[in-house]
Amino acid sequence: MSAKMSNIFLLRRLHSLTGVIPIGAFLIEHFYINFSAVDSPEAFNQTVANLRVIFPGLMLPIVELFFIAIPLVFHAFLGIYISFTMKNNISHYSYLRNWFYLSQRITGVFLVFYIALHVASMRFGFWGLGNRLSVNEHAMDLVDSPFAIVHADLSQPIVLAFYILGIIAASYHLAYGLWSFAIHWGITISEKSQSISLWVCITIAIIIFILGLSAALAFI
Ligand code: HEM
Repeated sequence: MSAKMSNIFLLRRLHSLTGVIPIGAFLIEHFYINFSAVDSPEAFNQTVANLRVIFPGLMLPIVELFFIAIPLVFHAFLGIYISFTMKNNISHYSYLRNWFYLSQRITGVFLVFYIALHVASMRFGFWGLGNRLSVNEHAMDLVDSPFAIVHADLSQPIVLAFYILGIIAASYHLAYGLWSFAIHWGITISEKSQSISLWVCITIAIIIFILGLSAALAFI
C-alpha cells in the first residue's frame, strides 16, 4: 500500500471511529440527559446543574472542545468531502442498501446545518432572538431556568419541526452508522450477521428516536 493510500485508509478509519466514539456516545448521553425533562422541569434543571458540578470551572469547555467539538468538526469535514466526492455503489448493493447509504450522506449534510444552528442557539445564546444567555450560562448562576430557555425555543412550531427533523436525522445517521461501522471493522462479515445487525440497528434507531422525541415534546 502506498503512503498516500495508507493515509487515506487511516483517515477513513478515524472518521468511522469518531462517528461512534465520541460523537455517537455523546449523542446518546445528550438525549438521555434531555430525557430528564420528561420527569419534570426541575429534574432537567437539576441535571444541567449537576453537569457543572461534575465538570467545574474550565473543565466543561475543555471537555466540550476536545471530546465533542474537535472530533465532530473532523467527522463533519471529512463527511462532507466523502458525501460529495465518493460514488454510490449502485451496482454492488441491493436497491434498499443503496438507499440507506445515500440517506446516511444526506442526513450527514443536514446535520451540519442542524448542529451549527443548535449549538449557536443553545450553547452560545444566538437567536434567543438576540437577548438571552445560553443554556450553560443560566446553568452556572442558576438564577434562570435552562428548562425555560429550551421551552421558549421549542414552543415555536417552526423550531420544533426543525428539531424533530434533527432528531430523525441524528437517530438514523447513528444507527445506520453503527451498522456500517460493524462491517468496516470486520465485526459482521457474513450476509446473515449483516442482516441480523440491520434489525438490531433499526431497533436502536427507533429507541434513540423515541428518547429524543419524547424529550423534545416534554419541553413544550
Ligand atoms: C450526530 C452527529 C453524528 C454522528 C453520531 C455520526 C456518526 C456516524 C457513524 C457511526 C458513522 C459510521 C462509520 C462507518 O461506517 O464506519 C458515520 C458515517 C458517516 N458520517 Fe457521520 N455522524 C454524525 C455527523 C455527521 C456529519 C455532520 C456529517 C457531515 C456530512 C457526517 C457524514 C458522514 C458520512 C458521509 C459517513 C459515511 C462514511 C462512509 O461512507 O464511509 N456525519 N457517522
